[in-house]
Amino acid sequence: MKILLCGGRGQLGTECNKVFGERHEVVSVGSAELDIADQEVVYNAVRRMRPHVIVNCAAFTKVDACEVERDAAWAVNVEGPRNLARAASIFEATFVHVSTDYVFDGKKKVPDPYYESDIPNPISYYGITKWEGEEAVRVECRNHMILRTAWLYGEKGGNFLKTMLRLALKGHAEAIRVVNDQFGSPTWAWRLALQMERLVTKSGRGTYHVTAEGWCTWYELAAYFLDRMKVPHRIIPIATSEYPSAATRPSNSILANRRLKEAGENIMEDWREDVKTFVDRSREILLREAAGGI
Ligand SMILES: NC(=O)c1ccc[n+]([C@@H]2O[C@H](COP(=O)([O-])OP(=O)(O)OC[C@H]3O[C@@H](n4cnc5c(N)ncnc54)[C@H](OP(=O)(O)O)[C@@H]3O)[C@@H](O)[C@H]2O)c1
Repeated sequence: MKILLCGGRGQLGTECNKVFGERHEVVSVGSAELDIADQEVVYNAVRRMRPHVIVNCAAFTKVDACEVERDAAWAVNVEGPRNLARAASIFEATFVHVSTDYVFDGKKKVPDPYYESDIPNPISYYGITKWEGEEAVRVECRNHMILRTAWLYGEKGGNFLKTMLRLALKGHAEAIRVVNDQFGSPTWAWRLALQMERLVTKSGRGTYHVTAEGWCTWYELAAYFLDRMKVPHRIIPIATSEYPSAATRPSNSILANRRLKEAGENIMEDWREDVKTFVDRSREILLREAAGGI
C-alpha cells in the first residue's frame, strides 16, 4: 500500500515510518514539507500522491503550551485532521488519526477504565482540541480509524522517561518529586506503531483505544524505569496539587482496549514488559543522549 505519513519525524511518526516501511511504500513528511493546517497544501499533496492510506501522527502535543497558544493548537489539532480527513475522503484513501486519553475528564474511580463508548469531556485545551479533531474526522471521512493512546515514550523526541533519566543523572542532592495520583498506561511508540500497521492491514474502522496493558502512576513508572536503567536515583511521590501546571490533567487516564480485544486484534503488551524491552534495546542511546552526547 502507498502510505502518506504526516508528523513522520515525531516520537510516534518515527516508529511508524520504520514499521510501516517494512511492508509498504511510505512517504513520510514533517511540518516543513506538509503543513497539515493548510487546507490547500494538504489537498494538493494528496491529489498528487494518491495514497491508499493517510496516517496522521502530527499534532501540537505540548499540553501546557496549548493553554496559551490556543490558535496554533486549534490549527494543528483540529483543522489539521479536518483537512487530511477531507482530502482522504475526496481521493478515496483510508484516514488513520491518533488521539489521546486526555479527551476524558478522568473522574472514573481507579482502576475503572475508559471504553471507546464513554462520553469524552476534556478538561484541558489540548484535550478540547484533540476531541474536536476527532469529531472533524468523523464528519469528513467515513473510512477512518481514530486511535486513542496515552503516556507515549520512545527513542525519538522528548518524553517523561527521558526527563526522569536526565534528572537522575544530574544526581541532585534533592530527590526527584513525581506525581503519584495520576493513573495511566505508559505506551511504547514502537508497539503502538505495530498495532497501527496491523489495524491498517486488517481494515479496521472507527474509534479504538490502544494503550499498553496494565496501569500505574507517573511515580511508579519513573521508579520502574530508573531501576531497569540501573541509574541510581532518589524519587519521592507527591500529589498533583504539589506540582502546579497550566493545564489540568485527568487523574484516571486508564483506557481499555475493548474494541481491539473484541476483534481479536490486540497485540499490546503489559507496560512493564515493554519498558523492560525498551530499556534493553535503547539503554546506551538513552544514556548518551541524556548525558548530552547526541
Ligand atoms: N506524547 C504523548 O504522551 C501522547 C499521549 C497521547 C496521545 N498522543 C498523540 O499521539 C500523537 C503523536 O504524538 P508524539 O508524541 O509522537 O508527538 P511529537 O513527538 O510531538 O510529534 C508531533 C509531530 O507533529 C508535527 N507537526 C506539528 N505541527 C505540524 C503541522 N502544522 N503540520 C505538520 N506536522 C506538524 C511535528 O513535525 P516537525 O517535527 O516536522 O515539526 C512533530 O514531529 C499525537 O496525535 C498526540 O496527540 C501523544
